[in-house]
Amino acid sequence: MKGFRERMRETSERRESILILALDLKGERLLERSLSLLEEVSQSLCAVKLNRHLLLPLGLKGVKQIVEKARRLGIQTIMDCKLNDIGSTNLAIAESLFKAGFDALTVSPYVGWKEGLEPVFKLAKSLGRGVLSLVYMSHPGAKETFEEAFIQGKPAYQVFAGWAARWEADGLIVGATRPEKIREIHHLVEGKLPIYSPGVGFQGGSLEAAIENGANYIIVGRSILQTERPAEAAENFRRESWRLLRLRES
Ligand code: XMP
Repeated sequence: MKGFRERMRETSERRESILILALDLKGERLLERSLSLLEEVSQSLCAVKLNRHLLLPLGLKGVKQIVEKARRLGIQTIMDCKLNDIGSTNLAIAESLFKAGFDALTVSPYVGWKEGLEPVFKLAKSLGRGVLSLVYMSHPGAKETFEEAFIQGKPAYQVFAGWAARWEADGLIVGATRPEKIREIHHLVEGKLPIYSPGVGFQGGSLEAAIENGANYIIVGRSILQTERPAEAAENFRRESWRLLRLRES
């Protein structure tokens, strides 16, 4: 069985895309609009990321329809749930999400391994699904907890990068708003884990700086969703990010 990391790589190569859409819609006719937007932009994507924006109003049944549509469209699905509870609760949530068909989910390393995230990683591995671990978030306040708070005598993000490698996570999440941290974290894990980077555009992160410094996948929401022509905006992000990745790798 191919793992999530490999499926992402294959989808990305096939689509010539490292773009992940954060499908964070709000308002009326949510399911209908989500499905039609996904269809409209899917050619430019390697994956779609959902979070509680859709899960709460639509429930798991509604979200499952989006996941199934994404599968038919040939892209991977990520649930950005940032699991951060005790192991038994994390496991129950992960079971429901994987049952709904998600290819991967996100976790918060703050809860640690033993009776924290261990059961989630084990479940994901047994099902060929992925786990992406937060290392440094994209918003301004992230500095207080991910950098200024120390764990084992080091800034938290440095420890989280090491844990993600030890836990065999399928990827690290590092905000595009801090390209210098992307570079440092890329080196800390010796380039062995892909870096997923949200925060481009709307949150002020630069696409170019994120990719030049080591991001492997780019997560974009509002800079696509809140434009008049989302398909065109997504295609521009796809083309430019693919070009920058090729440039870095040449
Ligand atoms: P925008 O609209 O800012 O959306 O392009 C970004 C999306 O990514 C999520 N997000 C994060 N997820 N770590 C994460 O796991 C982060 O640091 C982070 N920053 C933003 C956000 O929820 C939205 O879906």
